[in-house]
Amino acid sequence: MSFRTTPSVDYVEDVSPGSGALPPRAWYASSDARSLSLNGSWRFRLSATAGAEDDSFAEEGYDAGNWAEVTVPGHWVLQGDGAFGSPIYTNHLYPFPVDPPYVPTENPTGDHLRVFDLPSDWPSDGGAVLRFDGVESCARVWLNGTELGEFKGSRLAHEFAVGELLKPGSNVLAVRVHQWSAGSYLEDQDQWWLPGIFRDVTLLHRPAGSVADFFVHASYDHTTGEGTLRVDSGVDGRVLVPALDIDVATGEPVTVAVEPWTAETPKLYDGVLATDGERVPLRIGFRTVVLEDGLVKVNGTAVLFKGVNRHEWHPERGRALDLETMREDVLLMKRHNLNAVRTSHYPPHPAFLDLCDEYGLWVIDECDLETHGFTEQDWRDNPVDDDRWTPALLDRAARMVERDKNHPSIVFWSLGNEAGTGRGLTAMAEWIHGRDPERLVHYEGDWNCRDTDVYSRMYAFHDEVEKIGQQLDGGTHKRRELPFIQCEYAHAMGNGPGGLADYQELFEKYDRLQGGFIWEWIDHGVKHAELGYAYGGDFGEELHDGNFVCDGLVFPDRTPSPGLIEYKKVIEPVRIEGDGANGIVHVTNKQDFADLSALAFEWSCQVDGETVESGSLAVPALAPGESAEVKLPEPPADGRGGERQWTVRALLANDTSWAAKGHVVAWGQFAVGARPLPSFPATDRPVVEEGRITLGPAGFDARTGALLSIGGVEVGATPRLDVWRAPTDNDDGAEWQTDTRYGMLWRTLGLHRMRHRLVSVEAGDDALTVRTRVAPAAREVGLDTVYRWTSDGERLRLSVSVTPEGDWTVPLPRLGVRFGLPEADRVEWFGGGPGEAYPDSRTASMVGRWQSTVDRLQTPYVRPQENGARADVRWVELGGLRIEGDPEFWFTARRWTTEQLDAARHRTDLAAGDTVWVNLDHGLHGVGSQSCGPGPLPQYFLKAEPVEFSFVFSTTR
Ligand code: GAL
Repeated sequence: MSFRTTPSVDYVEDVSPGSGALPPRAWYASSDARSLSLNGSWRFRLSATAGAEDDSFAEEGYDAGNWAEVTVPGHWVLQGDGAFGSPIYTNHLYPFPVDPPYVPTENPTGDHLRVFDLPSDWPSDGGAVLRFDGVESCARVWLNGTELGEFKGSRLAHEFAVGELLKPGSNVLAVRVHQWSAGSYLEDQDQWWLPGIFRDVTLLHRPAGSVADFFVHASYDHTTGEGTLRVDSGVDGRVLVPALDIDVATGEPVTVAVEPWTAETPKLYDGVLATDGERVPLRIGFRTVVLEDGLVKVNGTAVLFKGVNRHEWHPERGRALDLETMREDVLLMKRHNLNAVRTSHYPPHPAFLDLCDEYGLWVIDECDLETHGFTEQDWRDNPVDDDRWTPALLDRAARMVERDKNHPSIVFWSLGNEAGTGRGLTAMAEWIHGRDPERLVHYEGDWNCRDTDVYSRMYAFHDEVEKIGQQLDGGTHKRRELPFIQCEYAHAMGNGPGGLADYQELFEKYDRLQGGFIWEWIDHGVKHAELGYAYGGDFGEELHDGNFVCDGLVFPDRTPSPGLIEYKKVIEPVRIEGDGANGIVHVTNKQDFADLSALAFEWSCQVDGETVESGSLAVPALAPGESAEVKLPEPPADGRGGERQWTVRALLANDTSWAAKGHVVAWGQFAVGARPLPSFPATDRPVVEEGRITLGPAGFDARTGALLSIGGVEVGATPRLDVWRAPTDNDDGAEWQTDTRYGMLWRTLGLHRMRHRLVSVEAGDDALTVRTRVAPAAREVGLDTVYRWTSDGERLRLSVSVTPEGDWTVPLPRLGVRFGLPEADRVEWFGGGPGEAYPDSRTASMVGRWQSTVDRLQTPYVRPQENGARADVRWVELGGLRIEGDPEFWFTARRWTTEQLDAARHRTDLAAGDTVWVNLDHGLHGVGSQSCGPGPLPQYFLKAEPVEFSFVFSTTR
């Protein structure tokens, strides 16, 4: 015998998409039909299980006066200061047993209640619809005590017909939201699990004769310059586009001369769809997307995607984004030369797609589907290969396509992410191809491309990408005919990604390679009072993936990280190269559609990094793909024998919707001649007296050879050889990459605990020579290191020569000297800047004169790690010292030691000490993107080899 003691919650674990909701349709805002936002403060009650409470709260008259409150849109775990549970982060592991479609009995369930007044002038004719734009993960809905239905599909819109139920005056909307449901098995994306009503809730009046659904078909024929418009609508009406003199019936095609829509030239025509019941604004972009000659072409031209994967993220509000945050994303993308976005891994808030249409970004709209956790069991029982789940998959596909079908920016529908392979995916692809043959279908998980129109991969290494470009990769017959994109590459976790320029070179070299999408846009750090930004594990999760959730090109507050600055440079729409000695600039238009007429060019000439002359440069309005050579003026005279270089910039000639006139989109630099190296006659002789050695302006400890001071500047810690860096996420690598995870190998070898053995201190005729051997405890390998100090009376030169001993099987993290200054703040240098650079992420480093402070030199990665190096430094001034390099060097300064940086887990663990630690490096190891991709390419390895390098110290006080 069995009893039912709790209310039925069977729908939670039902594989079906739900019941009661209206069929999906286009998402739009009517010009004249009324709507009422139900966003705001809602009453809220949290239960530990799905069936803990009965349904009585949905009844009219229920007194929720003692309930808490939450803001809708929002996630309850990010509200209530921890009283409503906390976020959980897992990459691909389900945070519950894999027991589909069942979920644990512990199933946080949030009852939401909103009493609203229907405006007194709310029209009484027609019907009304209640729309939920996003609820995670399963919701059951009642209006005025009547159940409307339940649904799953967190990032998809669901509507219910409520006309009959609405009452004048007060109405009660009750929504029960379960954190876990059968739907959770389809939503195993790598992100925080965040339950709640996190997108808008809206009541929409539906006048009699209003538009139910419509589909704008707006194609462009590049051979005639004409566009063909046909708007299909469930309800007959007229389509008006004043600028094109179009006034036709729905369903009727019309062909006229138009300007096409592209991401570079996002021309939209405003129109209206008018039915008896309402007027719907249209924003029409004419473009044709095809697969032709093995390439994705838009308007007859192959496109090179310079994209990024975007999750919706706000450090305080999670995935509940406001319009301004969405706009900020789009503006940042446009200002950093991106032209494409994959909405990983679900359809975004629809307003984001409006922005993509308006500002111009190619979009891969991805379905809310990922079943990654099944990989743990070799994909056994994967819902995408189990017919019982197919209705839910088709429902998700339809809800994406129907909602978003009128956006010209969308060129691909993506079936989802990391869901293995199976019949359900095929069913989705077939349905999508049938419903919208005017776009292409993407999915990465099936390398045989059974269902897709593009061969897509993630994190393929450079050498494999090159093979694919050369069509030497084999694969199914179908795959061999398809173009290639990397839907994810260059994992932007922590310091990096390195190797971007090398990828871009391949993408530009081989037609078949149509570009890629960086993983990912933003660090999903959660704002946290003690930790700065929290990541996986910071909320006590028993299963989590740490800071793998912080792998974006922008920090959680949307400050661009150096990775974004690097990407901007790598994907510049104009390539500016030059032959500085002969004063010639080569300009190439790297765009696919636009000529260069929107840009103005400027040249400037620097002597020792300081601009001495500048002017404008006349560059023809080159068509896409065209190049030109332009002559520069005569360089200014070389009076002071300094280093001369040209800088040429391409700037916006006029204000645009996304940046102001003068915004720099591209630049190039080229030297007029070689850099004159510092000349240094060693004239002084070391003088030994009373335990101290004096050499020119410097004092040394005679016993240890340690530098004590230069002029009036005390040196807190003498320059010593240093090879350690706080491993980056990319040094540490991902757990599945075993042989080249140098972060670990370095630690195993002991490079973080090098010991220095003093061999001798020799005061010679013209030099003080300190011989040492630097080596890790427990190991045989070592670095014979000789410091040779000389002086010309005013200045002090340190030459370091390093000879590796033994069998060094790993590259070195860094090689240079580290020393400490008791005081330093302002920093000025001549070299690469303004931001950090590493050997394989230095494209955006511009040679010039830069100023900063020690604090501002730091790049605040959410998990602290090596950062802040400046490349190609000729000289730097800080703390009363001027240091010149022979050759150029990498410069880093911080208020904590590398060891402290290494030990820190969050930004707030780093506290300024009383020494500024300065690293002057001859070499650094590349960074790569091995946290989920390739490590540094071999040319960026810092090999343990014999080297010699020098610095000249003087005082500035
Ligand atoms: C991919 C996945 C992303 C993310 C990334 C690593 O496999 O599609 O969602 O997990 O790896 O950050």
